Amino acid sequence: MSPSARPAMPDIASSVPISRAKETCPSAATASGPAAGPGGGPAAEPAPTAPLLEVRGLCVTLPTARGPVQVLRDVSFTMARGQTLGIIGESGCGKSMTALALMGLLPEGAQVSGSIRLDGQELTTLDERALCALRGARIGMVFQEPMTALNPLHTIGRQIAEPLRLHRGLSAAAARAEALRLLERVRLPQAAQRLDAWPHQLSGGQRQRVVIAIALACGPGLLLADEPTTALDVTIQREVLDLIGELVAADGMGLLLISHDLGVMAQTVRHLLVMYAGSVVESGPTADVFRRLAHPYTRGLFAARPRLGLARGTRLATIPGRVPDLAELPPGCAFAGRCALAEPACAAAPPPLLEVGSGHHARCIKAGALP
Ligand SMILES: Nc1ncnc2c1ncn2[C@@H]1O[C@H](COP(=O)(O)OP(=O)(O)O)[C@@H](O)[C@H]1O
Ligand code: SF4
Ligand SMILES: [Mg+2]
Repeated sequence: MSPSARPAMPDIASSVPISRAKETCPSAATASGPAAGPGGGPAAEPAPTAPLLEVRGLCVTLPTARGPVQVLRDVSFTMARGQTLGIIGESGCGKSMTALALMGLLPEGAQVSGSIRLDGQELTTLDERALCALRGARIGMVFQEPMTALNPLHTIGRQIAEPLRLHRGLSAAAARAEALRLLERVRLPQAAQRLDAWPHQLSGGQRQRVVIAIALACGPGLLLADEPTTALDVTIQREVLDLIGELVAADGMGLLLISHDLGVMAQTVRHLLVMYAGSVVESGPTADVFRRLAHPYTRGLFAARPRLGLARGTRLATIPGRVPDLAELPPGCAFAGRCALAEPACAAAPPPLLEVGSGHHARCIKAGALP
C-alpha cells in the first residue's frame, strides 16, 4: 500500500548529563509544539498548576566523527499528571534521545537548547548532582534490556533498597521490607526468596519486573519506559505491559512509553507522538491519530505494521527508501524523499505544524487535505 492510501479504521489491537552548553536551534524559532493530552533552574519553585512535563523547542546536537549532528529538532509536547503518552517511529528517529534528554543522560558533548520542565522546574539548567537527585526519585526509568539496568554484582534486594535509602532515607531494615513489598507489587513469584537472588538467576521477564520495582521505589510522578518489552519473549511482553499500565493507573503516574509497535501503543497510551528524523511529525490523541493518519509517514508506518491473519505469501508494505542521514537533511520536509505525495513546495521549506483536529497536529503541507 502506498503511504498515501487511506486505510480503513485501524484494527491496531489485533496486530501483532544534559550539556549545559547552549546552541541556537535553526528550526525552533519557526514552530510551536504540538499539544498532547495526560501525565530549576536550581532555585525555581515547582508551580502547582504546571503540567507534569512540558517540553518546548528541544534541540539536541551530538558531536560525531563527521562533525556536529542535530538529532532532535524542535521537539515539543506536554503531559498532564497521570497522562499516558507514546512515542513511535522507525529506528534512529530520536525516540531514545528524547528520553535521554529528559533524564539528563545524553552522550558526552551533547549540545541542548529549548526547555524541559518537570512540575514547572527547568531541567536543562540542572547540574549533575541535581539530576541524580531527580532520577529515580521523580522520574522512574525502565529500559529495553533489564540486564543492563541491573548490576550483576548485587542482589535484587540490595538494588531495590538502594534508591529507598538514597532518596527516602530509609534504614536498612525498612528498605528491605519495602523492597519486598515492591517485589510483591510487581508480582515477582517467590518474592521473599528472590530478595537475595542475583540478576542472572531470574528470567528476562522477572528481571524486567525487578527493574519496574526499582523504577517505582520512590513513587515518581513520571515513568519513562523505552522499548520495555522488546527484549522479552512475546508471551511475556503483554504481561509486562499490562503490569506497567496497571501500576501507572493505580499510582496516578504519567507514562512516557517508547515503542515501535503500533499495537502496543493502541492498547497502552491515550496520546501519541510520531517522530521522524528527530522531529515530531504528528501528535494527538491515539485514537484520533490512528483514525485519521494525518501525516504520510504515519500512514506508511501503519501500512507496514505486521498483522495477524494475513494470507500466506502476502507481502508486507514497506515505506520506500530509508531514513535520511541526519547530517545531510534536505532543507524542506525530511520525509520528501520517501513520500508519494511530495511536490516541489515540500522541498522549499520545512512544513508547518498544522492542526487537523482538537489537539491533533501534523507537520505536512497537505495534512489537512489528505483523503
Ligand atoms: N552517541 C551518539 N553519537 C552520535 N549520534 C548518535 C548517538 N547515539 C545515537 N545517535 C544518533 O541519534 C539518532 C537518534 O537515535 P535514537 O534516539 O537512539 O533513535 P531511536 O528512535 O531508534 O531510539 C540516530 O540517528 C542515531 O544514529
Ligand atoms: S510536506 Fe510534502 S513531502 Fe512532506 S510529508 Fe507532506 S506531502 Fe509528503
Ligand atoms: Mg531507541
